[in-house]
Amino acid sequence: MSDARGGEAFARLLAERRLLVCVGPGGVGKTTVAAAMGLHAARSGRKTLVLTIDPARRLATMLGLDGLDDEERPVPVEQLEPLAGAARERAAMYAAMLDTGAAYDSLIKRIAEDEDHRQRIYNNRLYQVMSRSFGASHAYVAMERLYYAMEDGDYDLIVLDTPPTRNALDILDAPGRLSTFLDENVVRWFIRNKQPSSLRERLLSRGGAAATKLLGRIVGEQLVDDLSEFFEVFLSLREGFSRRAERVQRAMRADDCGFVLVSSALATNLVDARFLHEGLAEREVPVEAVVFNRAFIPLDLPAAEPRAARAEALASAICPKGQDDDAARERVREALTSLERLHDVVTAENAAGQRDIDAFCEALAAYCVRVTTPRFDEELRDLSALARLGELLCT
Ligand SMILES: Nc1ncnc2c1ncn2[C@@H]1O[C@H](COP(=O)(O)OP(=O)(O)OP(=O)(O)O)[C@@H](O)[C@H]1O
Ligand SMILES: [Mg+2]
Repeated sequence: MSDARGGEAFARLLAERRLLVCVGPGGVGKTTVAAAMGLHAARSGRKTLVLTIDPARRLATMLGLDGLDDEERPVPVEQLEPLAGAARERAAMYAAMLDTGAAYDSLIKRIAEDEDHRQRIYNNRLYQVMSRSFGASHAYVAMERLYYAMEDGDYDLIVLDTPPTRNALDILDAPGRLSTFLDENVVRWFIRNKQPSSLRERLLSRGGAAATKLLGRIVGEQLVDDLSEFFEVFLSLREGFSRRAERVQRAMRADDCGFVLVSSALATNLVDARFLHEGLAEREVPVEAVVFNRAFIPLDLPAAEPRAARAEALASAICPKGQDDDAARERVREALTSLERLHDVVTAENAAGQRDIDAFCEALAAYCVRVTTPRFDEELRDLSALARLGELLCT
């Protein structure tokens, strides 16, 4: 139940943008919302890719796929009716999951010039550790994967799902951090077989020799060899890294990209969401839309009728006089009264959530689209449930 203007404006983002990045606190439904957005755009006639980082099996099942990995797989959207007026030729949805190790390997395959170079990288023990570990290196390779999809994929829209809160900012910081790291002189210290030319380089090289010798004594020659080779190999790729990092950074700040902040209405999530909103603002990345997901429980009981009278009327309907004993009627009446109380609790919670959402929205820019989605009765299990969420986001 998004407000009408919010829903329409959200639909426009899905129809017009080329890249949408979903960020938000943990567990609020980022991956689910990202998939619902991709599906809605596909049903509207766009060729869409959802790039997720979520290894949850649930997502693949929901999309009707056997599994998800680095490869872009077609989602069987033809199971669903396209939306009214959709151009069918381009309507398609693909999904891929970012597997850090596999993404690094295919990155090296794309950029290292020859087989020998590639094998040296693959066999390097430090590369193996770095490419399989989570953290900033993950955010970095997410950028590389995104770059590849944007350059090669012929997609109308890419929806990028990110890890929770603070890590999401890594996506904006990691590429810069990596290029800076590769620029550091300390990296050069480890490179043994480079001929120093300038005086500065010679001095650095001497410092490097001393440092590597000392390190060799502490951690062992083999590790130093690995380190030295690792940095050498990465330095040789540095130019490519920096160039692509720059392009992705530019793409994420371009007009056809939008950041979508997903949160729930829970106070703890809203604190995290505010942190993210500020973190993005510091990086000069505007938030185009906020989705308050699972923000309320839909209630359709009318509130006007006096409840005692309603309980009495319902009890009479369920246990007509004369057919059942008074005790049964009384139990039904009690059950209905409890339900009414529950209704009150939920109404109060919905109202409190809405107040917190309103307070949160005060800090948002006027152009920022706001949509609110209900908590579904059950897990979103399949494409139709996702399609329903997509429609709720856009109406
Ligand atoms: N509107 C909704 N109503 C009911 N359940 C929902 C709704 N949106 C998401 N969920 C459920 O909430 C759970 C968490 O969703 P999801 O995995 O998308 O969150 P996430 O933000 O990506 O989590 P993480 O931060 O761990 O990546 C899932 O079980 C999903 O089915
Ligand atoms: Mg997720």
